[in-house]
Amino acid sequence: MCGIVGYIGMHRAADYLVNGLSKLEYRGYDSAGIAVLENNKIRVEKCVGRLDALRTKLGNNIPEGNIGIGHTRWATHGRPSDLNAHPHVAGKFAIVHNGIIENYLKLKEELLAKGHEFTSETDTEVVAHLLEDYYEGDFEEAVKKVLRVIRGSYALAFMCEDQPDMIICTKKDNPLVIGLGDGENFIASDIPAIINETRRTFIMSDGEIATVTPDGVWIQDINGVPISKKVFIVSWNAEAAEKSGYDHFMLKEINEQPKAIRDTVSGRINLEEKNIAFPELCWTEDEMKEINKIFIVACGTAYHAGIVGKYYLEQLARIPVEVDIASEFRYRSPLVDGNSLTIVISQSGETSDTLAALREAKRLGARTLAVTNVVGSSIAREADQVVYTYAGPEIAVASTKAYTTQLLAMLMLSIYVARLRNTLDKRTIAGLVTALANLPNAVEQTLKHTETIKGLAEKYSPCNDVFFLGRSLDYAVALEGALKLKEISYIHAEAYAAGELKHGTLALLVPGVPVIVLATQEDIYDKTISNLQEVKAREAEVLAIGFEGDSSLENYADHVVYIPKTDKYLAPMLSVVPLQLFAYHAALVRGCDVDKPRNLAKSVTVE
Ligand code: M6R
Repeated sequence: MCGIVGYIGMHRAADYLVNGLSKLEYRGYDSAGIAVLENNKIRVEKCVGRLDALRTKLGNNIPEGNIGIGHTRWATHGRPSDLNAHPHVAGKFAIVHNGIIENYLKLKEELLAKGHEFTSETDTEVVAHLLEDYYEGDFEEAVKKVLRVIRGSYALAFMCEDQPDMIICTKKDNPLVIGLGDGENFIASDIPAIINETRRTFIMSDGEIATVTPDGVWIQDINGVPISKKVFIVSWNAEAAEKSGYDHFMLKEINEQPKAIRDTVSGRINLEEKNIAFPELCWTEDEMKEINKIFIVACGTAYHAGIVGKYYLEQLARIPVEVDIASEFRYRSPLVDGNSLTIVISQSGETSDTLAALREAKRLGARTLAVTNVVGSSIAREADQVVYTYAGPEIAVASTKAYTTQLLAMLMLSIYVARLRNTLDKRTIAGLVTALANLPNAVEQTLKHTETIKGLAEKYSPCNDVFFLGRSLDYAVALEGALKLKEISYIHAEAYAAGELKHGTLALLVPGVPVIVLATQEDIYDKTISNLQEVKAREAEVLAIGFEGDSSLENYADHVVYIPKTDKYLAPMLSVVPLQLFAYHAALVRGCDVDKPRNLAKSVTVE
């Protein structure tokens, strides 16, 4: 997904721009570019490909100016090419844009009729031409006029040759932050791009227009009404956004799970009272009793966390739950009303489909709650209530620690709701709280099996297909294991509810096909083992994941990976770890770009 950076100050802008863009590479992109004001003229350097291509293009001929904007593009309108790369220029203006200008075709026609000449196939270029068209000597006024006519979603940064002392930026439905320095200021679409420079930030909200100079930031709305914003201090440091000695962000993030879990339970479990608290939530018992249905809406891995959440909420809090893929929910006229609660789950808090689903639920009158990892994200701001996961920045495209902390948040939430609705007795809650407190250690123990899993991943990495089976919560985790494997190793992988296999998919099981069977759910354990035996009878290779002490698994499976024994509700947060490691090592052996898999982006801010 696209990235934006901007710099204004006393140093060479290009250095920050290229470095800042490199911190956004994790978002996925196909071309990159910068525009710098050099001797009062805009100089643009951009090209298709990775940032290294841009660095090579610049060589020693680096622009010298102290003000500039930069961009990494993930193509939506127009293929990846030098001309379609941002920044786009018209007359005295250069602009960069994340998002989509929905009415660009109509605007382009009007501009063409007025004699404007376009050089790209992008929707973005109309913004530069509109600015040129509307400009009558007042840069801010011209920007406001542009914002009155464009429709769609955007984070935008603008530069003007007549105003060598300012960058203007604004946003709608796309993230944008301003980093506050001393005699210099920074603009970025995401915090990792500025964290090396400053932790003091303004998180921009929709409709705010910021005029950024070396010495200050002036924020107003489209009518010129000044807006005063609180400085937001970023709590994580530059190191958290780097690899810290690991070969890949994904491996680092898998290994960070014990800490992410500790941080997410912290302040929410009370070991003395054996209870769960969410100080940030303000629900009364009566309000909770009014809720007669919950919708969980999300995409990808977060959707898989939602499926686990359904088991938790239904079994512990006894509320009926529907889980929806966000892109389906928003268009299916869901039967949402004031007595229902819609929970949206999103690591980034910016996923376009999830944000739209949240808005749809609100429009229909539902109460809403977001489970997200990014403070101040659009989803966090728009939901009625927010439960944050504290996984820290997740850079690898493949979600790992965000998933485990989403499960954790959903489990704690379910226990909390169950307590308010009196559907769980104190003893059960106490048992779960104790198990939650031990969870980080259990994940650490699970991570110790890395070498075994690596060996298995190497063995099976040449395969074309891998199947994942489980029942109940194990099935929900199987879905996530299959997604992890396909998205980073490009091996075809499918997950099935183990009991469903015989209704068709069994036909695909031929000798030697690897089948990963999760067997952690004791209430349906025997059924799972029967399905495992059906698989073995077809001479498929079975890799089982079960609890320590369950040595009987070795009688049926070719390989067993053990996870520490825990409560059945916590098992998904352990059993997913071997699946993450399996996908990681299989991808590595196959020579894949683990952190940036082909065609995928970290934050999907288009529909
Ligand atoms: O930021 P979100 O949690 O809303 O992202 C949702 C999906 O795009 C994301 O989980 C995606 O499926 C991951 N690449 C999976 O590893």
